[in-house]
Amino acid sequence: PVIYVITPTYTRPVQKAELVRLANTFLHVVNLHWIVVEDCPRKTKLVANLLEKAGMNFTHLNIESPHNQKVGITRTPEVTPRGTVQRNLGLRWLRDNLNASNPPEGVVYFADDDNTYSLEVFEEMRYTRTVSVWPVAFVGGLRYESPDLGPTGRVIGWKTVFDPKRPFAIDMAGFAINLRLILERPHANFKLEGVKGGYQETSLLKDLVTMDGLEAKAANCTKVLVWHTRTERPTLVNEGKRGFTDMNIEV
Ligand code: UGA
Ligand code: MN
Repeated sequence: PVIYVITPTYTRPVQKAELVRLANTFLHVVNLHWIVVEDCPRKTKLVANLLEKAGMNFTHLNIESPHNQKVGITRTPEVTPRGTVQRNLGLRWLRDNLNASNPPEGVVYFADDDNTYSLEVFEEMRYTRTVSVWPVAFVGGLRYESPDLGPTGRVIGWKTVFDPKRPFAIDMAGFAINLRLILERPHANFKLEGVKGGYQETSLLKDLVTMDGLEAKAANCTKVLVWHTRTERPTLVNEGKRGFTDMNIEV
């Protein structure tokens, strides 16, 4: 099966470093198709060149977030999740470009550009029949959050402190979806409006699967194979207003 990885990304000083790090991971994974969706009115040269040079299967898309969704302007994290319209465009690309009546064997994974991914997590997700789930480190104020497995190994709830009653109390990095399911449910998307904090994942998954249909991976959710790391913003105070360094040099 092909792993279709959908990554939203946006321009900021560390963007290239993040994408290089992801590419260096994904290059070790066979049958991976990287769908990179820029939060931008136009595709940037930086991302286009990076993808060309990486030497992997990729699709380069772009869509700008609605202006009230922009980080740092009027964004309130509770109501305006990041990367949402970009992930939905990735889903639309799959639906528009893959033949629903004879789809390739595949799985869809949403990989934010700043997280840390083990190679094992891709082999865990590769044979997903419906939706597979596993723990994610450094979310919800814990070392890791995890699906809660009952005695038979089925998911019966969520080992989280933040709102464990959510239908799917799981971070974006903690699940993968069988491609056929995405194509068979063409209207399943992440919702933008009226989604409370922590409910973005639920807004998609509730239209695809129920809790008892989830497949627990990573040795019955006893292994941490993905980390919700966040990259520190570099201080560039010495650049001054006009910039000290050569702006023709890409960073
Ligand atoms: C957490 C979750 O892990 C994300 O999956 C979720 O989208 C996000 O919260 C949210 O709901 O806001 P967090 O580390 O806070 O993640 O978010 P970022 O990593 O800053 O952003 C998630 C993704 O969206 C990244 O791939 C980032 O490059 C992208 N993004 C961020 C944009 O495309 N545009 C932006 O303006 C900001
Ligand atoms: Mn992040």
